Amino acid sequence: MTTNWEQQYLEDDTPWDKGSAAPPLIEWMDRNPDLISGRILVPGCGLGHDVRALATLKQNVEPIGVDISLTALEKARSIQHVGIESYLVADLFTMENAHTEAYDWVWEHTCFCAIDPSMRDKYVEAVHKILKPDGHFLGVFYLDPYDDEHPPGSGPPHGSSIRELETRFVESGKFEILECYVPDKSYPGREGLEQIIRFAKK
Ligand SMILES: C[S@@+](CC[C@H](N)C(=O)[O-])C[C@H]1O[C@@H](n2cnc3c(N)ncnc32)[C@H](O)[C@@H]1O
Repeated sequence: MTTNWEQQYLEDDTPWDKGSAAPPLIEWMDRNPDLISGRILVPGCGLGHDVRALATLKQNVEPIGVDISLTALEKARSIQHVGIESYLVADLFTMENAHTEAYDWVWEHTCFCAIDPSMRDKYVEAVHKILKPDGHFLGVFYLDPYDDEHPPGSGPPHGSSIRELETRFVESGKFEILECYVPDKSYPGREGLEQIIRFAKK
């Protein structure tokens, strides 16, 4: 089943949008106030809550939210700016060459679990390509989004596992893991079901 993201934003049918930045991102920034800097790409940023959270950091940060939906980014752009954040309508899988090795960090939140699982290796290739040689990929992975109303195979979000992430990111030779833990803070309903992972590009 293919998701028509643009149509969902047009119809305000966006149950994934919680109206605020991801709690695991806020928690990670509180724990690591000086670690992240430079150009940060946020794939599948939706209304940009995480982009704006990153833009509040005091150091030299330039968050850039990317989304395939024009309507999502029109809504994101209409929200009060807090720093030098910007937004780009683009498909992560077909980013122009100007983006190659152009980013210091990637922040991932509910893009990986939203795309079709058959595209996951392409996702890893895409984020590897846009990161600078010493770039970091920081993500919160919604590993287990399933319940009685949303069983496996019923469309996004699609679950994953630490083992799968190790295979795709690490055993592919593209990344190494620097940190990996279950965040203390999550949106209500996602407690204990998410994993923060920070990878360094190899
Ligand atoms: C589940 S939503 C999450 C949005 C946002 N991260 C949030 O948590 O509110 C997935 C987002 O990924 C975007 N998206 C899906 N495929 C994409 C692609 N190939 N390139 C860029 N964005 C994509 C969708 O338009 C949508 O905004």
